[in-house]
Amino acid sequence: MAENYQFETRCIHGDGGFVEEHPYGAVSVPIFQTATFAHPGIGKSTGYDYSRESNPTRYELESVMSSLEGADDSIACATGMAAIGICLELFGEGSHILCTEDLYGGTVRMFKSIGEKRGLKFSYVDTSDIDLVRKNIRKETKALYIETPSNPTMRITDFAEMRKLADEFGLLILADNTFLSPYFQKPLQLGADIVVHSGTKFLGGHNDVLAGFVCVKGKELSEKLRYTYKTVGCSLSDMLPSR
Ligand SMILES: Cc1ncc(COP(=O)(O)O)c(C=O)c1O
Repeated sequence: MAENYQFETRCIHGDGGFVEEHPYGAVSVPIFQTATFAHPGIGKSTGYDYSRESNPTRYELESVMSSLEGADDSIACATGMAAIGICLELFGEGSHILCTEDLYGGTVRMFKSIGEKRGLKFSYVDTSDIDLVRKNIRKETKALYIETPSNPTMRITDFAEMRKLADEFGLLILADNTFLSPYFQKPLQLGADIVVHSGTKFLGGHNDVLAGFVCVKGKELSEKLRYTYKTVGCSLSDMLPSR
């Protein structure tokens, strides 16, 4: 049934029939404003232990995001920068990440001030030029980090061509989809492995919420990112998903 849902329906119901069964059959998403969850018995968990790691209210929002982006998992972060930050932890010292040249300035600041200090290397090219991207792949390149259309020059990167390069050189593709949102573009369906969002912008829509998302394909990436997420504690507040 869910495969027939239109985008507008998915924005509210995700893939339909929320995973959680709420107390008293609440139809709207209840706010589970609790840091800790009681265990029904020794060695038994409801699936929720501590809200830094996961929370039922947040999980419903994450399920909606997965439905919209076609992701296997989506992780709701406190801000877009937090979402980008946990992705950096996928890469070990010496890794090179090839980026779209006019990335959002805050992303470049994070790459320069935190990523480079951690021993990561970044270079910036016009990713609408496939030959230029190919020429700039090094033996230590691990990922392509793409913003398309780029901000501010609105250059378009061809995901299908990036996917071919990524497969040839064994690279991950990360895409910042803040500006088009899944309404206009679904990078995971076009070949990306990871999508990041500033939920603060069009996803939030009302200029009243700071939020970020990482949406991924595959269990392995999801597990690695969730491990960093619970470790650094950049979770979205339990109050915000219900807005
Ligand atoms: C394209 C893009 N990515 C990421 C961010 C960072 O998001 P946030 O402000 O929610 O931390 C922004 C913020 O303007 C952005 O424009």
